[in-house]
Amino acid sequence: MRSEYCGLVSRKHLGQELSLCGWVHRRRDHGGVIFIDLRDREGLVQVVCDPDAPETFKIADRMRAEFVVRVVGSVRERPGGTANPGLASGEVEVLAKTIDILNASLPPPFQMDEDNLSETVRLEHRVLDLRRPYMQNNLRLRYRTAMSVRRFLDRHGFIDVETPMLTRSTPEGARDYLVPSRVHPGYFYALPQSPQLFKQMLMVAGYDRYYQIVKCFRDEDLRADRQPEFTQIDVETSFLGQQEITLLMEQMIRHVFKEVMGAELPDPFPRFSYDEVLARYGTDKPDLRVPLELTELTDAVRDVEFKVFREAAALKDGRVAALRVPRGGELTRKEIDELTEFAKIYGAKGLAYIKVNDASKGAEGLQSPITKFLHDGALAAILKRTGAENGDLVFFGADRARIVNEALGALRAKIGHERGLAQPGWRPLWVLDFPMFEWDEEEKRWAAMHHPFTAPADGDEDLLETDPGAARAKAHDIVLNGWEIGGGSVRIHRQDVQQKVFRALAIGPDEAQAKFGFLLDALQYGAPPHGGIAFGLDRLVALMAGADSIRDVIAFPKTQRAQCLLTHAPNRVDERQLRELHIRLRQAEQKKS
Ligand code: AMO
Ligand code: AMP
Repeated sequence: MRSEYCGLVSRKHLGQELSLCGWVHRRRDHGGVIFIDLRDREGLVQVVCDPDAPETFKIADRMRAEFVVRVVGSVRERPGGTANPGLASGEVEVLAKTIDILNASLPPPFQMDEDNLSETVRLEHRVLDLRRPYMQNNLRLRYRTAMSVRRFLDRHGFIDVETPMLTRSTPEGARDYLVPSRVHPGYFYALPQSPQLFKQMLMVAGYDRYYQIVKCFRDEDLRADRQPEFTQIDVETSFLGQQEITLLMEQMIRHVFKEVMGAELPDPFPRFSYDEVLARYGTDKPDLRVPLELTELTDAVRDVEFKVFREAAALKDGRVAALRVPRGGELTRKEIDELTEFAKIYGAKGLAYIKVNDASKGAEGLQSPITKFLHDGALAAILKRTGAENGDLVFFGADRARIVNEALGALRAKIGHERGLAQPGWRPLWVLDFPMFEWDEEEKRWAAMHHPFTAPADGDEDLLETDPGAARAKAHDIVLNGWEIGGGSVRIHRQDVQQKVFRALAIGPDEAQAKFGFLLDALQYGAPPHGGIAFGLDRLVALMAGADSIRDVIAFPKTQRAQCLLTHAPNRVDERQLRELHIRLRQAEQKKS
């Protein structure tokens, strides 16, 4: 039917007769001559129908947007001055000899090159949305990325092994999606939150290097970078230490960016400890394109009159920190108020600030409601440590460290981007030395920061029992331009260490056996030292595509409310299906239908 893609027609076809198939992107009637932009997955080409061929012209006259047509015609140079440099085929056009309408189309709800479509409209009409060049490019980028990953891993001796989708709960910390069993009344499968336990068992089984590009399912609160089902590049290796795993994986990311985007990433990726990223950026996923950092002031304000600072500095988990905004002196009162409201989203109680008019004049040269409550020593420390210059503004956070970090960390990213301070390019980093555990205030117990199979740092095994909060993990997260794109760890391969971790997590032997008995058993049959990582493929591709949301790189994504607007999943099912699954809905749910 077709001899060339529309988008690939070029000067090299001059004089040739081609057969093209595609969709009518636009049809323009220029008084006697009809121009059609014909579109396929490779792009557009201009087709000209002139009245000299009356049959063809009549058909062209009937064509409307999104009709599917086949055009046979000859390629000629566009007349002088009409070339379109924005189009790959922009120097040429096709003079139609015959046109067949292969299929008509209803008038589409939007034009394929419309920019400002609401996401609801796009998701309701996803088939048409996917036809748009933006989505075509994104999905092809996704494919090329996945292929590049596969080539790299294949070359490095990894094999792809599939793991089950109908399985038991996996410990990634989200809610499970459950699937009822028909054959076992009252029993449920869980969809995997990740293949974590299976990949560890594959290491025990001697597969040495495993990978899988695999769907994972997590019932959690959704955001722009989270979907209920998403795709991981999941990797596990045996006999590699943390340094070796992370170096191999950053090599993979460099390879992918080079091959797919032609982009050079830093070699090596910078490495930070968890404590350091929090101290300097207020977050464990800092956007290093933003050249601003937080400044520690806790020790310098312990004895100031300003109660907000003094009291925060006295808290066991308190912190007082500053964020210097270059040329922030130009911020208006209103803008400062807006930023204060923004900080409050993260739990800050306020956002004290100092404008630096003339640093050489000491307190005189500073403009702020709080300087009168700060002694000269504190003011000098603020100026010296932040490096604030005339015309700058310094914001302060004073509270529990967690709140200060979240508020100033978010402010740092917002101000950096909104004030045009962010540098272009790709800024990856590793975050290492995570704590093993976080205190769960609700449950009043320690929870694993990654998952309960993460190995403690060498020498920290005893802390698991004596001071769990101080124990560090052999965990590694990889962050790119402010997004966590991957995370993993070296695993526990010895039964005695695993027991200690379960004890620290207050998981009793019976509970451990019931939940993960199959893994614990496997670990007793000669488990090799092993470890790995999983990357979020959706996030990686969204970053590469410059998309704001991972939904833009997923063919059929779900909304923030975990619905598919195209198929209308989730949906009610009929009574017979429920009965077969031994399920009766509670009355409240029944009434809603
Ligand atoms: P983790 O839970 O950190 O690790 O997940 C790995 C990566 O997957 C991506 N990701 C998501 N992407 C989109 N939507 C979501 N809901 C979502 N949740 C996670 C992130 C994240 O960095 N089994 C471990 C890995 C290991 O230890 O090897 C795991 O799943 O980019
Ligand atoms: P107040 O003494 O409450 O009027 O606050 C004086 C200044 O300190 C105002 O600019 C507040 O926004 C700011 N402020 C109040 N609480 C905090 C806090 N926890 N961290 C930082 N700034 C604060």
